[in-house]
Amino acid sequence: MAMMGVNPSLIVRDKPYTKEELMEALRLAISAELDAINLYEQMAKFTQDEKCKKMFLDVAKEEKTHVGEFLALLLSLDIQQVKELKEGFKEVEEETGIKTTL
Ligand SMILES: [Fe+2]
Repeated sequence: MAMMGVNPSLIVRDKPYTKEELMEALRLAISAELDAINLYEQMAKFTQDEKCKKMFLDVAKEEKTHVGEFLALLLSLDIQQVKELKEGFKEVEEETGIKTTL
């Protein structure tokens, strides 16, 4: 999903992203995909037409895949994020007993 209401041609640049800027772009992409999941699930909730409802839910599921794609790319660049993601999983397991595996 593209950024809601933002015309991509408004992204004015004269040079390619640096590594830091690419990581920032990937974080923004992840955020946009998460917003899209919530948007489509809300739309599904209020849609009575069963075919449209199913389509909203199918696309919401696809957006979850997109989160994974952008996250995989971000983790390939941001070693600190890999470390802190693991730390977060570990803290939740220690504090709640909830074990999250990928
Ligand atoms: Fe998407």
